[in-house]
Amino acid sequence: MGGALLARWLDQADFKFTVVSPSGRQMPNEVRCVGGPEELAGVEFDLIILAVKPQVIPTVLPQYSGLLAADGCFISMAAGFAAASIESITGEKALVRIMPNMPVQIGKGVSALYANPHCSTRHQQTVAELMATTGQLIWVDNEDNIDRLTAIAGSGPGYVFEIARCWMQAGQSLGFSEPEAREMVLRTLAGSVELALSSEAPLSELRDGVVSKNGTTAAGLSALNRDSSLDALLQQTVEAAYARAVELR
Ligand SMILES: NC(=O)c1ccc[n+]([C@@H]2O[C@H](COP(=O)([O-])OP(=O)(O)OC[C@H]3O[C@@H](n4cnc5c(N)ncnc54)[C@H](OP(=O)(O)O)[C@@H]3O)[C@@H](O)[C@H]2O)c1
Repeated sequence: MGGALLARWLDQADFKFTVVSPSGRQMPNEVRCVGGPEELAGVEFDLIILAVKPQVIPTVLPQYSGLLAADGCFISMAAGFAAASIESITGEKALVRIMPNMPVQIGKGVSALYANPHCSTRHQQTVAELMATTGQLIWVDNEDNIDRLTAIAGSGPGYVFEIARCWMQAGQSLGFSEPEAREMVLRTLAGSVELALSSEAPLSELRDGVVSKNGTTAAGLSALNRDSSLDALLQQTVEAAYARAVELR
């Protein structure tokens, strides 16, 4: 995820980056790449971005937290790692937790952002400037809402790909090849979503606009909604993801 965001930032944002990559990952020329903290002695950063797995933060962060400038700000993208846990390592420093989703790679992500009480307006503006290059931003005023948004948008691309996979398989059962079914399903999804985004109409109204009495869509929707199991399934899906986010705190 750190790499996906960095690619976007290098393309769109006016910041200078230093990346720590213990495995010596290949980086674009404009990025300074180091293998560890020993190569950063005496350097200070305005922003330190935590893009490691949550479970390694307690060992990795103490090696870098002293490199933040006095008026600098931490950014953490670690899922389920609370601001208080980060502050227990860094002390009372400005911190913005971000929860991006996968389409940030193409500038069409949805990210939740939470600023701790030590953040100034300037810190928030700087982080917003960086993150605005990756898609839509939703500032939340408590960390619980990060977990709620994770259950909907953070994990959302997974649900979309799975629903599209089932739809594609059904398309193949009507005789289309895999590439044909993929193209039909993904283009139908993309076009429908774009149409919905360009409209203020409720989704139920857009749905009804496709339905003619006793027509094909009516028949399909009647099968899809036979026993309201779709509503229940999606409800259970986001509830399960939220419950897991709470467990990981
Ligand atoms: N994947 C997602 O969709 C997603 C969504 C939202 C948030 N997140 C969050 O993003 C974070 C990263 O997840 P990921 O899936 O991108 O993990 P990942 O692919 O395993 O990447 C982890 C990164 O951490 C670096 N790293 C490991 N040990 C390090 C150390 N000792 N010092 C400095 N860097 C070190 C690795 O460096 P090398 O490049 O050298 O291997 C690697 O680039 C997690 O906290 C996760 O919760 C992920």
